[in-house]
Amino acid sequence: MSARRKAPGPTILVNRLLLFALLAVVGVATALVLVFYRAGRVPQPSTVPLFGEHQAGVATTQQSFAFVAAFDVTTKSVAELRALLQEWTAVSARMAAGRPAAEPSSSPLSPPADTGETSGYAPARLTMTFGAGPSLFDDRFGLSRLRPSALVDIPPFAGDRLVREFSDGDLGVQICADDVQVAFHALRELIRVARGTAVLRWSQAGFRPTEAANTKEQTARNLQGFKDGTVNIDTKNTSDMNRVVWAQQSDGAGWMAGGTYLVVRRIRMRIEVWDRSSLQDQEATIGRNKESGAPLGGAKELDALNLTKEASGVPIIPEDAHVRLAHGNGTEQIFRRPYAFANGMDTRTGELDSGLLYLVFQRDPRKQFIPIQERLAASDALNEYIAHVGSAIFAIFPGAKAGGYVGETLLH
Ligand code: HEM
Repeated sequence: MSARRKAPGPTILVNRLLLFALLAVVGVATALVLVFYRAGRVPQPSTVPLFGEHQAGVATTQQSFAFVAAFDVTTKSVAELRALLQEWTAVSARMAAGRPAAEPSSSPLSPPADTGETSGYAPARLTMTFGAGPSLFDDRFGLSRLRPSALVDIPPFAGDRLVREFSDGDLGVQICADDVQVAFHALRELIRVARGTAVLRWSQAGFRPTEAANTKEQTARNLQGFKDGTVNIDTKNTSDMNRVVWAQQSDGAGWMAGGTYLVVRRIRMRIEVWDRSSLQDQEATIGRNKESGAPLGGAKELDALNLTKEASGVPIIPEDAHVRLAHGNGTEQIFRRPYAFANGMDTRTGELDSGLLYLVFQRDPRKQFIPIQERLAASDALNEYIAHVGSAIFAIFPGAKAGGYVGETLLH
């Protein structure tokens, strides 16, 4: 006897239809996300968490705006220094999550707990990355034994035009966001929190093209018009990051494991002189094609540098070209995360005070930034068009665990 199948009732039919519709919607949405993801058009999430193995703001895909600032610690108490870093961590974690720097105060008679210029705004991938300068390890806080040997004083280089007011500092912070007001607000709150313990020593704003302009997602161009960042460390490559950027336990200062060293150079560009030089001169100076970014003698931006000579004996990329000297024999690598800067006019000369806020992260500046900069300072053709006016180095603390604070491995 064959079992007779009963036709599904109307409720079951509606349920099945709903299920099919739901599956179809999920399927189409997944396909769309995949298509946009492949095209690189999925928007970056607006929040970058503060806590983690490494501090945010190094491996983070570079945001469009930055403020880099240095502080002089005014207290002599290590407990107050510790309290400052704890407070900075708490305030930064809140701001990175898109919350006000502090809970609103209930009294209208006291100043607002947050300065308010980002109230209701998204955090725009705000990151705050903290570090200690060499001077923090003098005799004030009993930290001198803990100074990492890699945290050297940056030596003077030929041609330096350093201005003391733009240089050095006990503590440093790199603040980055995809919105300039969000980044500025973070700087302002950090200065406010530091009141009585540390004062601002210098600060420099930086910018790079936003997605609104860079729709083709080219390598960002610097203010000389060249693509800058073609040859760089891929932050998603963990083994390269460990080899080139993150300090390791075996490097000596155990408290720095998972941290990194940031060299900041404020490099003024003599834009007016550059703009009067021929395209041919500009390309020979850098060693690359201005429009495409391809190395001289190459066809595409990502082609390897051709460091050989033509049959006539003339090098394809000139001996004094920036990329040839920066590349050296390829053994010294650095992670560059630079921003352009524009500080209005130099009132003495009537020229623009602008250039490159050069931010270099590395595992050991003695083996990375310093030997490269020694070569560049000695013979880079670019020196005719630039001057290093500010310099600082910071041991960027390892990341903080949730519940802990940035700098804890040093100050616990
Ligand atoms: C205003 C100053 C500077 C300008 C305008 C500048 C510009 C450039 C440009 C256009 C490139 C080629 C594109 C690329 O590969 O990213 C480049 C490459 C590079 N630059 Fe600079 N740069 C400056 C300063 C420095 C400094 C101070 C250093 C390090 C001490 C440095 C290190 C490098 C390195 C390592 C490369 C990649 C070289 C390679 O091909 O292996 N640059 N720079």
